[in-house]
Amino acid sequence: MYTELISIAREIVASESNFICNAANISSLLYTRMRDINWAGFYMLSHNHLLLGPFMGKPACIQIAMGNGVCGKAAAIEKTCIVPDVNSFPGHIACDNASKSEIVIPLVKRDVLYGVMDVDSPILDRFQISDKEGLEEIAELLLEASDMESVLQYYNR
Ligand code: SME
Repeated sequence: MYTELISIAREIVASESNFICNAANISSLLYTRMRDINWAGFYMLSHNHLLLGPFMGKPACIQIAMGNGVCGKAAAIEKTCIVPDVNSFPGHIACDNASKSEIVIPLVKRDVLYGVMDVDSPILDRFQISDKEGLEEIAELLLEASDMESVLQYYNR
């Protein structure tokens, strides 16, 4: 499944360097192509917190403090976090009560943190190591293709 997703992601970002365009299309790709997903999108580093970026799914919380929730944790430790049962994760931020499990990938390019990519599922234990590997590769394609300096400036005005 990821072989195909990765090759579509590569095509999507190939001719565009604007992060917002690319992230919007990657959100759509993940949301429409992955099984059992109810939210896919981005939170971007803005000053000292995370701010909602492009996504697909129900409206979500706008600001997340560093260290809070799964997104804030993944951003703070700069490591992918897989949560098999969000109700057992202390401090989980529920944007959609349907969400049961979650994976968050930090967006780090050349040692700079730009935000996170977040995918939620309405089923328990949806995300495995294969999802971590596939989604990390997609995040890397997005980061390499996009002008991250501009987006950092935009989110930190
Ligand atoms: N559940 C996330 C918040 C973002 S929503 O899932 C879209 C968290 O705990 O950080």
